[in-house]
Amino acid sequence: MKGILLAGGSGTRLYPATSVITKHLLPVAAKPMIFYPLTVLMLAGIRDILIISSPHDLPRFRALFKDGSHLGLNISYAEQREPKGIAEALLIGADHIRGESSVLALGDNIFHGHHFSDTLQGAAREVEGCVLFGYPVHDPERYGVGETDGDGRLVSIEEKPEKPRSNRAITGLYMYDHQVLDIAKNIRPSARGELEITDVNREYLARGQARLINLGRGFAWLDTGTPEALMQAGLYVQTMEERQGVRIACPEEVALRMGFIDLEQCHRLGRQNAGSAYGQYLLSLVPA
Ligand code: DAU
Repeated sequence: MKGILLAGGSGTRLYPATSVITKHLLPVAAKPMIFYPLTVLMLAGIRDILIISSPHDLPRFRALFKDGSHLGLNISYAEQREPKGIAEALLIGADHIRGESSVLALGDNIFHGHHFSDTLQGAAREVEGCVLFGYPVHDPERYGVGETDGDGRLVSIEEKPEKPRSNRAITGLYMYDHQVLDIAKNIRPSARGELEITDVNREYLARGQARLINLGRGFAWLDTGTPEALMQAGLYVQTMEERQGVRIACPEEVALRMGFIDLEQCHRLGRQNAGSAYGQYLLSLVPA
């Protein structure tokens, strides 16, 4: 299974913080935002990851992650010249995913909750059609919205509807089987000029092959799209980390727990950054 991490776009709502740097590298608590969706892909068991961003920002991601081998990953990179829609990521990543199932993660989505890795690995084991993740929100009109019938089956998906049929947002994490490229190739730009991921998902729904997993209210799916939301996300992460003494979305730790790297490598990464609390945390993961 292949991963795609989409981290382009314009980040206009976060100006001026985003005037020279992409929002995906702004800190959420003490880590770049992109660490959060990266670790979601890793927790799903994915090691082959394509990062897509703008020509301006891609070099920063390369500098940050290199080829990913220090994390036991294989990270490659591709440009999205202009933000022409989320579904374009599938076309840009065509060679990367060809013939395999894939997971597309949006670079600005933050997930945190009990047993999430079990949920991810369970879903990733049996991707037939597409698997979407829903979350209850008070402002569904800002998102893709999924409507379910009495049996919890998905019956409609709409992108930013004026009158949402439910309060269930479709989050920015999408699992697809091998059909996704054929579907993505055939969708056309929407009224706002974007290749909508919702249109890809709707085609799966029309084929009777879209499944929705509900992330319940005990779970956190955090927004980072506005200065206020970004600050709140940082406070949430910091509060949880301080209370529990563990870090959320630490790629080195996830790599260790997933068996992508060994204790020696984790220790090495910790030593390289021993002057920071983050480096000290990595060292603390390795028994003396
Ligand atoms: O966050 C979940 C929502 O993401 C879904 O509920 C919606 O169905 C989906 O359309 C999307 O809505 P947004 O309005 O939040 O998308 P936005 O344009 O803000 O972009 C989301 C992420 O994708 C962000 O990290 C920027 C990146 N992006 C977006 C576009 C359109 C790109 O890298 N390239 C693009 O062309």
